[in-house]
Amino acid sequence: MSPAIPIVLDCDPGHDDALAIMLAAGDSRVRLLGITTVAGNQIVDKTTANACAVATIAGLYDVPVVRGAGRPLLRELTTAGNIHGDSGLDGPLPIVPKVHPQAGVACDFIVDQVMAAPGEVTIVATAPLTNVALALAKEPGVATYARELVIMGGAYGRGNVTPAAEFNIYVDPEAAAMVFHAPWRITMMGLDVTHQALCSEEVQAEIAAIGTATGDFCAQLLEYFRTTYRREMDMADPPVHDVCAVAYVADPSLFVTRPAKVSIETCGTYTRGMTVTEFLEREKDSYHQVGTSVRRHELFDALIRAIRALG
Ligand code: RIB
Ligand code: CA
Repeated sequence: MSPAIPIVLDCDPGHDDALAIMLAAGDSRVRLLGITTVAGNQIVDKTTANACAVATIAGLYDVPVVRGAGRPLLRELTTAGNIHGDSGLDGPLPIVPKVHPQAGVACDFIVDQVMAAPGEVTIVATAPLTNVALALAKEPGVATYARELVIMGGAYGRGNVTPAAEFNIYVDPEAAAMVFHAPWRITMMGLDVTHQALCSEEVQAEIAAIGTATGDFCAQLLEYFRTTYRREMDMADPPVHDVCAVAYVADPSLFVTRPAKVSIETCGTYTRGMTVTEFLEREKDSYHQVGTSVRRHELFDALIRAIRALG
């Protein structure tokens, strides 16, 4: 078996971020070096507290949680309480955290982890790209020293905040523009593929049947996520967007990807945050690739195995 791939997970828990943390922690093909947090689904105080709560329930006492940017580079913060609730992780009863944020700031942690292990560390970003942009600004070498960047964000089709833009890119389009302009390999898991990763009630029941505190927590997250996606997005089953980004690192064969050139719209009145995607015929012509499909059953099998492994 290949050695586990070290990752830094930059996130804004957030229900699907929480499930992505569970996959990153419980799948032996991935080694979770640290969790960095950013404002997005909720303010950074809440996304950081939520990351600590998830780390506590999953028993991740040796995984640093490092707080990051409290606002986008330029724009006012847009949050998603309508989907994730006022806490950002509504549904389960509040967790008394035993994991607490490590001193320092997220962009420094990202730089330090990547530069200490040239070519080895994958950055997985499942939130607005503010921290990743700040890391690049502080140390441009991150783009060449990182193994790659895998994001949940964007869409080559329709957005979910506006017809043009997906939430993570919409919140901080300037950060996304910086990130996509840098010379590194980026895999974009956008809505086109994450809207295939729909969690059925049967899968949710299978997670509830694991019979552990972690499994119960994840099932309660999914139940809340299901209610808000039905109400707000008119979707019967919630998409576990962020799980796709971690799953791609664990097993790229779960996904079909296409080489592309992705450019970020930052000026459009109606198109702010659009990930303008030009598909290319030859991989060598671009650093970017975008996910187009996922083997849904195998994705959820991996998630269930990871949650079960956390005990
Ligand atoms: O558009 C979906 C993305 O926005 C996910 O990362 C979700 O957690 C929210 O951050
Ligand atoms: Ca997220």
